[in-house]
Parts: sequence; C-alpha cells; structure tokens
Amino acid sequence: MELFFLILIISLQFLQINSSSKTFNVLDYGAVGDGNTEDTQAFLDAWKAACKSSNSKTSPIMLVPPGKSFLLQPFTLDGYDCKSTKTNIISIVIDGELIAPKDRWAWKYEGKQCRQWILLKHMKGLVVKGSGTINAQGNTWWDLCTNEEKVCTRRPTSLILEDSEKVHIKNIAFKDSPQMHMAIENSKYVFVKNLYIEAPGDSPNTDGIHIQHSRKISITSSSIRTGDDCISIGDGSYRINISKIACGPGHGISIGSLGKHGNHEKVEFIHVKDVTFTDTTNGVRIKTWQGGSGYARNIIFEGIVSRGSLNPIIIDQFYCDHEKCKNQTSAVKVSNVLYNRVSGTSKSKIAVNLACSETEPCRNILMKDIKLKSIIEDEEEEDITSSYCKNVVDGHKDGSVIPNVPCLKQTN
Ligand SMILES: *[C@@H]1O[C@H](CO)[C@@H](O)[C@H](O)[C@H]1NC(C)=O
Ligand SMILES: *[C@@H]1O[C@H](CO)[C@@H](O)[C@H](O)[C@H]1NC(C)=O
Repeated sequence: MELFFLILIISLQFLQINSSSKTFNVLDYGAVGDGNTEDTQAFLDAWKAACKSSNSKTSPIMLVPPGKSFLLQPFTLDGYDCKSTKTNIISIVIDGELIAPKDRWAWKYEGKQCRQWILLKHMKGLVVKGSGTINAQGNTWWDLCTNEEKVCTRRPTSLILEDSEKVHIKNIAFKDSPQMHMAIENSKYVFVKNLYIEAPGDSPNTDGIHIQHSRKISITSSSIRTGDDCISIGDGSYRINISKIACGPGHGISIGSLGKHGNHEKVEFIHVKDVTFTDTTNGVRIKTWQGGSGYARNIIFEGIVSRGSLNPIIIDQFYCDHEKCKNQTSAVKVSNVLYNRVSGTSKSKIAVNLACSETEPCRNILMKDIKLKSIIEDEEEEDITSSYCKNVVDGHKDGSVIPNVPCLKQTN
C-alpha cells in the first residue's frame, strides 16, 4: 500500500514537471479589482498573453484571483489564435467576482446590439472554472421596455459561448443576469458541471442556460434558481444530456419554444434525468408555436421529482407569449417522448397536460411509472390529480400511471 502511494506521489511530481502551466494573473496586467475601476483591458491583455503562450507543451491559466471584485464592460475573449492540444488546454480560473456596471446606462456598447456581457468564441479546448461569481448586477435591466430604451434594444445575456468545441465550464456561480445567464450557441462537446445560478423568481427572461444550434452538450450537478426556464433547449440542438439539476424557482426545463414566426426548427435526442423541480411553473415542458414546422423527437425525461410545480408534465403546441395568437394548421411535430419515473406533487389539479396540434398530433408518447399527487391546500381537498389530452396518437403507458391518462393505451 505504502509503496503504491510512493509511486503515485513520484508520478504526480513527474507529471507536474512535464507539463508546465504558466499563470497569467489579471492583476499583473493592470487589473485593480476594487469594484470601481474598469478592468476590462487587463482581462483582454491577460487573455491575449495566455492564448499566445499556448502550445503543445504548456497549459496556460488565465487567473482571476479571489477576494477581489472586477468591474468589466462587455468584452470578448476570442480563442481563434490559441493553440491548445488534447493534453494542453487553456484554463480560465475565476476565483474572484466579475461584475458589470450596476446601472444599465453605464454599459458601454458599440452600436445597439447589446447581445451579451461576456462572449467566449472560437474556443477549442478550454476550461472555465473556479470558486468565483459572474454577477451582472442586472436588476436595472429588468424593467427595460424596448420602446423606451435609447441605448439598448434588448437585455444582454451574461455569458455566451459561441462557435466553440471541447469546453468545460464548472464550479462557477452566476448571479442576476439582465437576461439569460448563459447561452451555448453553435458549439459542440461542451460539458457544464456544478454551476450555481441564481436570480429572483420574478426577474424577467433570466433563463439559467439556453442551448441553441449545438450538439453533444452535457449539463450536470447544478442548482438553478431564476425567473425563467432553468434550462431551455432551442432550435438545432441534438444529443443533449441534462442530469442532476435542482430547478426552482423558475419555469422548469423546456424544449422550445420552437416554430415561432413560422420557422422550421428541429431538436432531437434529448435526455433529461434526475431533476427536481421546486415551486416552478412547469416541470418538463415541450412548447411549440402554431404555424411552425420541423420536429422535437426522441426525448427522454426520467427520474423527475416535482415539488409543487404548476404543470409537472406539459406539451403545449399552442404556445403563445402574448395575448392572442392566430390559429394555424402547420406545427412542429412532436414524437417519441418517454416519461419514466415522474413523481411528487403538482400545484394544479391537471398534473399531466398534453395539448397537441390537430393537424400534427403528438405521436408515440410513452409514460411509465408516473405518480403525481396534488398539493393539498385545505383539508376539504383531495390529493387526486387529473390529466388533459388532446390530439395524441400512438400513446402508451406501462406500469402505473397516476393520474390516469386515458389517451394512452395500457401495454401491460
Ligand atoms: C450522453 O449520454 C449518453 C448515454 O449515457 C452517452 O453515451 C453520451 O456520451 C453522453 N453525451 C455527452 C455529450 O455527455
Ligand atoms: C387555437 O389556439 C388556441 C391558443 O392560441 C388554442 O387554445 C386552441 O385550442 C386552438 N384551436 C384550434 C382549433 O386549434
């Protein structure tokens, strides 16, 4: 045993000698970290140096040290010129706090794009980690109404990862984004783990993580408490694994919305596993607009616990976020959806709500081992829930399904 450890220690030391990891501390590039001085340029310079030093022998680290607060204007870290290899990757270690200007009129933008605060793009082999917080201090944005605004036409997302691959993001906290906290766009092989995302339950459109035009993404072991979807999966998302998420408050985990403005949108091979929804408006939701086309298919939701969410299981093919949407015939096709082991309590009596399109019914919906009780708010009430079904064909149920979903055929 002792010999084993001795060998282990020697080999660890050997490894350290072999791969040098040079550190680029933002303080050495002029950052102050007092929460008042703008440190944007120092971040850009530290990144540039770290990126430039990357090669097959070194694994550079851009370091944001702990105990300090760095005020940052919108900025972009571009990985286009960095050379990371399989074994030598670039890391951004965020141990301190990143803050955006507290007042939205103090944000400096070129043009009126206002798309994001932090943009990471063209990354190929990157680790972002640390005990720090990405705090956009977004509350002055939350009452923004597009007509009134002179500087920005929309609320920015805190962090966008774009046109990237092989990226790991872990252990960081996100707080109070003006809009979505993180968006993954046109990327592949992105692994997200141990994030803590928090914004008030009534803050508008503050989704936790949004995925779009991306494939082979995993999001695991994270706690997300926001004012909108904990995780939303948009157009062009394939092979997405989501597991071990504590969601709520928020709007749940959503596929969609898909098919807005008649768009052709596609989502496929989504696996959502071991998620707890606490006081959310939805649990697992698929939402599509009338008039769109494309599909949402091959989707698994399993190991779901609802703690008083309003709509634990919902498919809504009539999604409409304003007062009245016109009825239209075309629709995004929803098929091959499995709900396996869904339990807990529902705040509304209708715990299972399948509202599908007349022209494109939901196909091959399978439910297995469902047990959703109603939250009992006074003693007169019973804990019995019910279901709603519209235009579901080829639906099946297996094992016990409570509430009963009559449009599904019992298979055993
Ligand atoms: C998703 O899960 C499947 C099955 O467990 C696994 O084979 C696949 O590699 C995972 N994908 C990612 C991106 O983690
Ligand atoms: C028309 O759209 C509304 C939602 O906007 C929906 O509730 C209703 O079921 C639709 N009617 C038909 C016939 O599709």
